[in-house]
Amino acid sequence: MASIETLKRQVLAKGNLPTHVAIIMDGNGRWARQRGLPRTAGHKYGVKAVKKVVRAAGDIGIKYLTLFTFSTENWNRPKNEVSAIMNLLYETTRRELNELLENNVRLITIGDIESLSPKRRDILKDAIARTSKNTGLTLNLALNYSGRLEILQAVKQIAADIAAGKLDIKQIDESRFSQYLLTKGLPDPDLLIRTSGEMRISNFLLWQMSYTELYVTDILWPDFDEAAFYRALSDFQKRERRFGRVKQSSSER
Ligand code: IPE
Ligand code: IPE
Ligand code: MG
Repeated sequence: MASIETLKRQVLAKGNLPTHVAIIMDGNGRWARQRGLPRTAGHKYGVKAVKKVVRAAGDIGIKYLTLFTFSTENWNRPKNEVSAIMNLLYETTRRELNELLENNVRLITIGDIESLSPKRRDILKDAIARTSKNTGLTLNLALNYSGRLEILQAVKQIAADIAAGKLDIKQIDESRFSQYLLTKGLPDPDLLIRTSGEMRISNFLLWQMSYTELYVTDILWPDFDEAAFYRALSDFQKRERRFGRVKQSSSER
């Protein structure tokens, strides 16, 4: 199999990189079960994959990487699993802050981080503030995130702005609506990667993914690495995005 460096070179030579890659990091539980380990061990090893992919994305020049880290529905998991995930998140952010700074990564989040415990929220906010001037990869963590709730809060804010006379109904178009979403200012994802073989969106970026290219791999998230990431990029480079139009070369009328 081609080495990581070869894969990277091939992808770079081809050009046409996605600007924004979103990932549903799935399969931590199954990875652990296959090894007779508790689910929490899967999450712990999943962090290693996150580090590899963040580094690979920055290296190759991806501008935006959005990682689905925790959904609002994930609160319905057993209490010990939820707190293990939250602790990993907090520990990892704290431990990796220097690496983010060294690699010029800007950290942002989408989702409700205000309802996290103050300690966890503050460590995140500190990392966000301290990396805010970085100009390399924007690493966006979808954390306590729900695509439907995001759309609902946009609708509520729009209604409030209309009631306050700040907005006229006629002004509401797709671009204006996007300004009310948590992803305001970010381009829509060009590529969605989902690991562990599941063919679903699971309430992720519902508005933003209308024309996103989907890539599903059977690899379980803790086993996902630089090579797997570059293979996903290489697959994307072969796609023809039509956005509802016909092929560029087809000129029949
Ligand atoms: C993804 O892995 C991690 C989170 C959802 C936080 P899972 O924990 O969903 O792993 P599976 O799907 O049970 O294998
Ligand atoms: C989606 O994975 C959420 C994250 C990766 C954080 P889930 O494992 O929660 O999704 P479902 O339940 O399989 O749809
Ligand atoms: Mg899962």
